[in-house]
Formats: sequence, structure tokens, C-alpha cells
Amino acid sequence: MGHEVLARKWRPHQLNDVVGQEHAVRILTHALESGRLHHAWLFTGTRGVGKTSIARIFAKALSCEKGIGPAPCDQCEICLACDGGYHIDLLEIDAASRTKVEDTRDLLETLQYAPARGRYKICLIDEVHMLSGHSFNALLKILEEPPAHVKFLLATTDPEKLPVTVRSRCLQLDLHPVPANKIAARLAQICTAEEIAATPPALLDIAAAGRGSLRDALSLLEQAIAFAGGNPLTAEMVQSLTGTGGPTLLPELLSAVISGDGENMLAAIETLRTEGADFDMLASGLLSLLHAISVQQIIPRKDASSSVCSLAERLTPEETQLFYQIALTGRRDLPFAPDPAIGFEMILLRMMAFVPASPWVPQKPKEEKREERKEPVPITAATRLPTEHDWNQVLPVLGLTGMTQALASHCHPVSLQGDPIQLLLAAKHASLLNKNLSERLEKALSAWRGQPVRLKITLTEDIPNTPAAQKSAKEQGRLQTAQGVISQDQGIKRLIDTFSATLDPDSIRAGETD
Ligand SMILES: Nc1ncnc2c1ncn2[C@@H]1O[C@H](COP(=O)(O)OP(=O)(O)OP(=O)(O)O)[C@@H](O)[C@H]1O
Ligand SMILES: [Mg+2]
Ligand SMILES: [Zn+2]
Repeated sequence: MGHEVLARKWRPHQLNDVVGQEHAVRILTHALESGRLHHAWLFTGTRGVGKTSIARIFAKALSCEKGIGPAPCDQCEICLACDGGYHIDLLEIDAASRTKVEDTRDLLETLQYAPARGRYKICLIDEVHMLSGHSFNALLKILEEPPAHVKFLLATTDPEKLPVTVRSRCLQLDLHPVPANKIAARLAQICTAEEIAATPPALLDIAAAGRGSLRDALSLLEQAIAFAGGNPLTAEMVQSLTGTGGPTLLPELLSAVISGDGENMLAAIETLRTEGADFDMLASGLLSLLHAISVQQIIPRKDASSSVCSLAERLTPEETQLFYQIALTGRRDLPFAPDPAIGFEMILLRMMAFVPASPWVPQKPKEEKREERKEPVPITAATRLPTEHDWNQVLPVLGLTGMTQALASHCHPVSLQGDPIQLLLAAKHASLLNKNLSERLEKALSAWRGQPVRLKITLTEDIPNTPAAQKSAKEQGRLQTAQGVISQDQGIKRLIDTFSATLDPDSIRAGETD
């Protein structure tokens, strides 16, 4: 038995076995050939790009019994010990699991002694940014006056977190995300060696899902092999594993949203859920799709895919913006949803709720497609008069800012359903009412309704319960509480008595009491 995971099994053992990272390999090769060996090296880069692997190869190359050089023999006792992780002069510290001062300090102290077998004492510290402050001090001390027989190999995903004092004493090599085509080629090499059949598109999909991390791509390959159960790996398999569901899945879902086809949409999500899809990745894919649609609407391109073109015709630019906003918020809130599938479903349902219920105003060829919609989902029943509650719900999704936001929040709804949308504005806020602002509000409301609507704002005596009034009433309440608390405070009372002072109520701000 003894199944070894692919990522471990296929860790490169020689510099020329490393995928990508050509510039780092070149610098290391040159250093090993010329013998000009800096005493401290820092390998940086995102996860799974080869930091630990390259540092270990370098340590082996410095230690091989056959001599220092870019291609260690892999046969002498020391090379074997390095690969096996038991070379006595190679000290590996994983700072992520060892941050205690004593721990690291003791280890670093052993560096003072001459190497037992090899040429150098080599200290490889992984995730070095995780060392505690005290450990950094201990490290810095040795880095400042390193014994000639000591070499440091430091690796981190987060070089910004290293003290400059440490960083400035190292020769830094930045490793890059590995390009997908190079990952795919490595996967193909591994599949051949492991006698696993896989189509090139399947391997490309796995490589892309690794997003630059060879380790992630290898663990995905491992999952795909388990999933395939002895069958050749295909792109469809990989897609259902990663939840990307192929290039048509998201456009189809979005199309279902636009035509109000809730049944199909929910069924598709259910399938994805049972397949164990990655909903965060799906939400991110949805954002990319909406971005592509928006680009297509604003700067049409000939090379856009047919699904993007057709969606770009079925949505207004404002709807696309709104959907993007909904997807963005939804994706951010995904971790708070009871489960990711529900969170994702809510994103689509929310979009669906904003597709307008009223008959479509004859516009572009769009119209026919709109009529495919089966069961429109109305936001509020058209028969009911709008309330402040409705307006409070509509306001946040309009995406208003600045003065337009101020205008809208002082308004009170009379009719949100018909055309024109009618709002009341108290005469005392009449200064907010100008053409520019009301046009902006009209546009935002049209986007919300998904069709051009007119806006009519009527000035009136006074309105009690606008969102702005509610907000200011709340603040007023808190302010009074704050003033009450402060004027009752014994210390302040004493100050007032002693100095015949007075309390300036305007200096009290409500926000500071809670
Ligand atoms: N550049 C690469 N060339 C070949 N294999 C690689 C490369 N990068 C990563 N791998 C594969 O991924 C595994 C993990 O790589 P490694 O531990 O070197 O990454 P790392 O950058 O140290 O990641 P982490 O930041 O997560 O520690 C290796 O065992 C190897 O199989
Ligand atoms: Mg590592
Ligand atoms: Zn050797």
C-alpha cells in the first residue's frame, strides 16, 4: 500500500525538474557554479509555487558529497539524507508551528557548532514571517554575524510581514504563479508516468483551477482521479468537480434569471450542490460573466462569445450594473449563509426579484425575448400602496451616492409601481430638488424597474417618516440619552460645581455613547 499523495511524490528533486521559476533557477545555478554563495536567501511567492521544494534542492546542492554544484548527485549518503529529511546538518523549522521563543532560540543556538557531516549547517525556516518577535531577534543576531559554516534559507508567502532588518540581510528570490500551460504540461507528464488516461482539455481545466499553484493543481488531479474511478479523465468530470460546469453553465443560469425561469434555476443549483460544486468559484465566475456583459454593452467587441452577446442584448446596462452589485455583495456574504449553495441561490433570487414585473415597454428586439418569461416575480403587489417600508428596501439597492442619495432619502413614496413613479418631498427640502438630481434618481429607478420610467416629485407641507427623518429621530434619541447620562455623572457634576461651569449640550455627540 503506502499511497503517497501526488504532490509529495512529485516534489522536484533537481533544479532542472522545477516547473517555471526560470529566473530563480538561473540565479541559483549561477551561484552554485561560481561558488559565490550568499549566506541568507529568502524565497517568496504564493502558496504551492515551489518555495520549499527549491529551498530543499538548494540545501542538497550545497551539501552533496560529490561537491557543490547545480546538479547534486542524488546518490551519496548526504543527498539521500536530504531527500529523506534526516540530514543532520539541515535544520528545518516550520515557523507556522513553532513560534515559542525558547524553541527557536535553542535551535538557532545549535548553529554555532560546526557541521557534523556536511560542509554547512543549513537552516531552512518555512513561513518565516510567523516567527515571534523574540525569535526574530535571535535570528537577527546570527544574521548580523553569521559563522562561515552557516547558510539560511528562508521561505514565506508574506514577505511584507518580515522585519526589514531581517529582509535587508537576505538575497530575495521572488517565485511567480506558474502559468497554466506549464502546469498542464507537468500534469500530462505525471499522468503518463502514473498510467492515467486524461484528455488535454481535462488537464488544462485542472491547471486553470490551480490558479498558479502547482500544489493545488496536483491535489485537484488527485481528486479527479478518485472521482473518475478508473475511467479516463474528461473535461466534464473536472468541471463538475470544480463547479465550473463548463462554459455554458453560468450563462444558462443567468438566462434563466432573466426569463424568470425559477424552476430551472433551482434545479440547476440543486444538481451543483449534490455534485459538491465550489459556490464561491461560481459566484466569482458570475461576476466575470457580468463584467464581460457590461464591457460588451459599453464597448461592443467582435470577438465576444455568443452567449455574452445574447445576454448583453437582453439586459440593460443599468441592470447589468445592478446584477454585478448584487453578485458582489452576495459573494462577500457567502461565508455567512447557512451553506454556500443557499448563499449562491439567494444571489440569483435577488436578481430575479429585480427583473421588472410590469409589461415591457417596446424598446429594442429585446422585447420578444422578455416575453419568454414564465412567472415574473413581482417585488410588491401592484394593488398595494407603497409604504415607507418598501421605500426603505428599494433605497439601498439603487446604489445612490451624495446629493442624489440625500434627495431620495428625504422623499416619501406615493407610487412605486406605475409610470411615473411618484414621490413626495417636504417643502423645507426643496433646495434638493433640481433637474440634475431628479434625473439621476429617475435613471436609478429605471434601472431598478428594468425599464425606463418617469419620476414625478411633488413638494408638500411636511412628511413625517422619510428614511432621513427616521435616521435623524434615532440619532436625536441617542443624543438625549447621552446628554442625560452625562449631566447625571457625579464627576461632571463636581466639575460644574467647583468651577461654576456649564455643560455645552452641543459638545455631546450621540455616536460616542454606544
Ligand atoms: N515550481 C514547481 N515545480 C514543480 N513542482 C512544484 C512546483 N511548485 C510546487 N510544486 C509541487 O507542489 C508541491 C508543493 O510545493 P512547495 O511545498 O515547494 O510549495 P511552496 O511554495 O513551499 O508552498 P507553500 O507556500 O504552501 O508552503 C511540491 O511537492 C510539488 O509537487
Ligand atoms: Mg512551503
Ligand atoms: Zn550527492
